[in-house]
Amino acid sequence: MQKKWWHGKVFYQIYPKSFKDSNGDGIGDIRGIIEKLDYIKALGVDLIWISPIYVSPFVDQGYDIADYQNIDPIFGSMQDFDELLEKAKALNLGIIMDLVINHCSSEHKWFKKALADPKSPERNYFYFRKGKEGHEPDNLRSYFGGSVWEKVRGEDDLYYLHYFAKEQPDLNWYNEDLRHKLFEMINWWLDKGIAGFRVDAIMNIVKDLNFPGLPKDSGSDGRCAVNQMTARLASKVGPFLQEMNEKTFKKHDAFSIGEAFSVNPQDLEKFIGDEGFFSSIFDFSTRELNESFPFCYQYRPISVKDFRESSFKAQLRANDIGFLAPIIENHDEPRGVSYFLPAMWQNSQGAKALGTVNLLLRGIPFIYQGQELGMTNTQFNSIYEFEDLNAQDQYKACLKQGLTPTQALAILNRESRDHARTPMLWDESTFAGFSNTTPWLKVHQDKEILCVKAQESDPHSTLNYYRKLTALKHDPAYQELLTYGLFKPLENPSDFTICFERVLDNKKIQVFTNFDTHSFEFTVNNKAQVLLSSGKGCLAEGKLKLNEGSVAVLYFED
Ligand code: NOJ
Ligand code: CA
Repeated sequence: MQKKWWHGKVFYQIYPKSFKDSNGDGIGDIRGIIEKLDYIKALGVDLIWISPIYVSPFVDQGYDIADYQNIDPIFGSMQDFDELLEKAKALNLGIIMDLVINHCSSEHKWFKKALADPKSPERNYFYFRKGKEGHEPDNLRSYFGGSVWEKVRGEDDLYYLHYFAKEQPDLNWYNEDLRHKLFEMINWWLDKGIAGFRVDAIMNIVKDLNFPGLPKDSGSDGRCAVNQMTARLASKVGPFLQEMNEKTFKKHDAFSIGEAFSVNPQDLEKFIGDEGFFSSIFDFSTRELNESFPFCYQYRPISVKDFRESSFKAQLRANDIGFLAPIIENHDEPRGVSYFLPAMWQNSQGAKALGTVNLLLRGIPFIYQGQELGMTNTQFNSIYEFEDLNAQDQYKACLKQGLTPTQALAILNRESRDHARTPMLWDESTFAGFSNTTPWLKVHQDKEILCVKAQESDPHSTLNYYRKLTALKHDPAYQELLTYGLFKPLENPSDFTICFERVLDNKKIQVFTNFDTHSFEFTVNNKAQVLLSSGKGCLAEGKLKLNEGSVAVLYFED
């Protein structure tokens, strides 16, 4: 494997709207991030991914971009951004931006021109199609509900394509001019000095230009979820990604990470091998367990065993190919501690053990803001407290399915994306030190316990444990092993343990976590020493006894 500068790095994802508000409007912003750079540095991460801060009408919280080369005023200005970049660099922190290029906003000048003038070149930057037999051109259901086709106003039978909201028209990657414009924009940002990009929804750029649709799925609307089409076309996306890499990332030696669902296992090398399209792709294997269920009321809860089996499988596949990026949550997910762990471990103990898995699996780990505090899901008491358009759609779908409002609310309280988007908890004050006014989204109910201020001074806090984890990842004595060491499952005595090892030459790091209700005893190498632990355990004479809710990281040389 060719060594690259990003190997062994740890990333921190910032959701800017919810990180820190510097000017008292209830919305996080760039100057807020600047204020907290020392905090981020002290967490021990190397790079920051910032979710979109470009000009946007915020129909999908900035994932609907109206101008790729300007900052939205709610976040600040380009001067603020330049200052952030400079100050981050001074702290040796890299910044990667979000690249949302499957679609733009219906407010983007390209789309406005395309609508205004059917003869304009921009008309071909999008997909405009006539209906079929009085219907939309196909029966696919958008990610946010309803058809992927929206009627063009004032036209009888003309539609444009949007895989996400109708305000997010899909860009036509088969148009060379458009690709050229996108690559220019990417290079413009890279020339500015950012370290790379997280590439949004990228598997969706490939289309079947006949728009044949698919047999209807389990929904009652006669449609089929659009991700099924994306999965079928997955093997065809290569040439676009290859070209993008050649013309942008590769030239700058930039880091690129794909939000790439449905990659065929046999294509993994093309994606993340030495000459891969991306530096890495997120490991979404746990999320993919629910992929065939388009509605949130159909989702099945993911157990510790599901988490273990699916992420172990992904790890084994990637072992000698490249690096996946392990995550336990992001801005599109409920909090990992609430989603993956049994109720009794949805606390600091569980958070530390799950965090250990996240950081010590093979790959390039991403920590999502607030994860290092052990943030759990926020309690939402009414549908009106949710902001996400997807939550609103899913709520309606639940009611249509015959669920009561209380049942629908309970489902969103388990699964909504807004759980990850509630304000970062800096202190115990009314607005959690995030803002001095009511924030745009409600504040977590446990701010007093979870906030940074409370955890800073507690040596046993989740936050201080995460700092130890990042320090271990970077410890010169173990860095090589924790970066390149192969992943191997260890024997797991229960459905509630996650035990694995990393192996490089004669060196081994073994990770034992116990989310069960009783202790376990593991036979281990009698030269093993404890590098890190939390909870209660004891290592003596080749036996590790690990109590419930505990984690231990061992090291030895054979
Ligand atoms: C994935 C992003 O992470 C999500 O937040 C967004 O809604 C969709 N892509 C559309 O851009
Ligand atoms: Ca603000």
